[in-house]
Formats: sequence, structure tokens, C-alpha cells
Amino acid sequence: MRHSLQIRTGQLGDADRLAVLAIQVWLHTDCTHGINSEVAQYVLSELTVERFSARPIEPESHILVAECNEWLVGYAAVKFGASCPSGARSTAELQTLYVQEHFVGRGVGRSLLMAAEAKARGQSASPLWLTVNAQNARAIAFYARQGYSQVGTTHVVLGQGRYENHVLIGADT
Ligand SMILES: CC(C)(COP(=O)(O)OP(=O)(O)OC[C@H]1O[C@@H](n2cnc3c(N)ncnc32)[C@H](O)[C@@H]1OP(=O)(O)O)[C@@H](O)C(=O)NCCC(=O)NCCS
Repeated sequence: MRHSLQIRTGQLGDADRLAVLAIQVWLHTDCTHGINSEVAQYVLSELTVERFSARPIEPESHILVAECNEWLVGYAAVKFGASCPSGARSTAELQTLYVQEHFVGRGVGRSLLMAAEAKARGQSASPLWLTVNAQNARAIAFYARQGYSQVGTTHVVLGQGRYENHVLIGADT
């Protein structure tokens, strides 16, 4: 099957597919020890169709979706007005960049990132900042390849767990 990649702005009607993709990618990437009750709670309360339905109408939020032959294969979420924990001047956070495992390594992540960067430049005249789990070597290598550099460290708390994250910022071009 030939893949015809399209990147577009997310819409209300994408919410069910975004929720399912987010659950799949998040569990696969971050839940490598299995599922505990905190993980289950997070998925069932946060990665819901209702939450994704609200995103396209939030003024500070921008969703980009990647489709191959009209199948959703990835998405990026940018939040504006979000202060960087390292104190860097950017206020455009790349909250999420997820590509379905079957489509990694085919340029989908880079295409979504470039579209998100263009949106950040246009709306806030600043590069993107983001946090990435310190254990996520593949994503850290991907962002380094795209010119991102580490400007700090932060921690994400989920239940009893406390997970180190790197704070990265894109090149200021
Ligand atoms: C990280 C992720 C978004 C990368 O997306 P992708 O579609 O696989 O990446 P691409 O195919 O667009 O790769 C773009 C470039 O990065 C490079 N790259 C990708 N993965 C890499 C890796 N593990 N190591 C080194 N370089 C890498 C590619 O070689 C390519 O280089 P090029 O520009 O010279 O061609 C994707 O793997 C993913 O969704 N992972 C699971 C969720 C996740 O970890 N998200 C990030 C959380 S912050």
C-alpha cells in the first residue's frame, strides 16, 4: 500500500480516533512495566473522547493530525501561553507528539513537528518547548536530530511514581 501523508488541523470529529491512538501510544511508550491502577485511572479519566472533543475549541490549544490514506496515524498537540519550567522565553509547549508504532521511522513525526513549529512561530513568534521522559531514548534522539537541546529537568508525578523528564527547546530560528 502506498502511503499518502496528510497533515491537517484537528477537528471535533477526530476525538474518538485521537483518544484511541493516544491510549495505544502512551501505553506502549510509557507503561513498559505493565498496567497498575494509577495507569488504568489515568487512561480512563484523561485519555477520553470527551477530553479530546474539548481540545479543538480551546483557544490556547492547537491539534495537528497525520493521516495516511485517511487513517489516523499520529497527532501533535501544542498549548499556547504555557511557561517553560526552565525559564526559557518560549510559551508554546509541544504537549504531545505521537506516531502509531507501525508508522514510526517514515517521516510522520518530523512532518507533524514541522507543522507544530510553524504554528508556534506564527502564533507566538517562539520555538516550541517540551518535556520528554528521561527513559525515552528514541524520542530524545529524534528531538536531538531535529535540533532540540536540553535546557532543564523536571519531574512528572503519577500516583506513587515520580518520573524524571528532560526539558527541551527547539532552535530559535
Ligand atoms: C518520537 C517519534 C515522534 C518520532 O517520530 P517518527 O515518525 O518515528 O520520526 P521520523 O521518521 O519523522 O524521523 C525524523 C528524523 O529523526 C530521526 N530519528 C527518528 N528516530 C530516531 C532515533 N531513534 N534515533 C536517531 N534518529 C532518529 C530519523 O532518522 C529522521 O532523520 P532525518 O531527518 O535525517 O531523515 C515517534 O517515534 C513516536 O511517536 N514515539 C512514541 C511516542 C513518543 O515517544 N513521543 C514523544 C514523547 S515526547
